[in-house]
Amino acid sequence: MIEIRGLRKEYRRGAETVLACSVRDLVVTDGEQIALMGRSGCGKTTLLNLIAGIQRPTGGSVRVCGVDLATLGQGALDRFRAEHVGIVFQTFNLLQPFTALENVLLGAVFSGRADARHRVRAQELLERVGLGDRTGHRPRELSIGQQPRVAMCRALIHEPDLILADEPLGNQDRETGSRVLQLLLEIARDEHRTVVMVTHDPESAKMMQRCVDLQSLREAA
Ligand SMILES: Nc1ncnc2c1ncn2[C@@H]1O[C@H](COP(=O)(O)OP(=O)(O)OP(=O)(O)O)[C@@H](O)[C@H]1O
Ligand SMILES: [Mg+2]
Repeated sequence: MIEIRGLRKEYRRGAETVLACSVRDLVVTDGEQIALMGRSGCGKTTLLNLIAGIQRPTGGSVRVCGVDLATLGQGALDRFRAEHVGIVFQTFNLLQPFTALENVLLGAVFSGRADARHRVRAQELLERVGLGDRTGHRPRELSIGQQPRVAMCRALIHEPDLILADEPLGNQDRETGSRVLQLLLEIARDEHRTVVMVTHDPESAKMMQRCVDLQSLREAA
């Protein structure tokens, strides 16, 4: 599903070069569920952005679903992401003017495939994460712990092959968080999706099949 070789993302700030992310080798197989860990600032969000094609690498290669992302132009890359990848952003990125249900549906709109079936699936997903009675609420009418659950449903709506989740549990109590994560993993397993989840929480990491410490994947300088 994912194959990474010699990947680097650098930023130039004046005379200084900042190495934001470096991965020598990482292979994630179809249907695998992995936790990505590492200290704050070590490049976890950057790595997810590189896998999603939201950012382009400075060097090295990323293959997703057998496609080398470097071979895709901007339009093709956007279409590829909309079709194959579901993302739960670290900041959730829910759109304020829209209700919870509409925010979930937007995930299908971006993939260009929104139809009546997706409306039913959006409702079902929100019910499964315990928000069946909050579908008409706008993001600011949801609690801080409810918002990441809407973001998670949006990432799942268009049945992506790959789910990238950046600390998707946010500020939820442990019990709700682990129930929601369990649910995400169950849906992913049932539908044979691959999951890469960034987390700082060892309990959440234990629920995944494999745990990868990003710092240990660094290319030797
Ligand atoms: N535009 C930029 N210019 C320069 N440096 C940047 C830029 N964006 C990110 N960085 C640096 O790249 C590094 C990796 O950032 P990233 O957001 O991937 O970290 P992270 O592992 O997700 O951290 P956290 O756990 O806090 O979310 C950080 O040290 C950050 O300071
Ligand atoms: Mg981050």
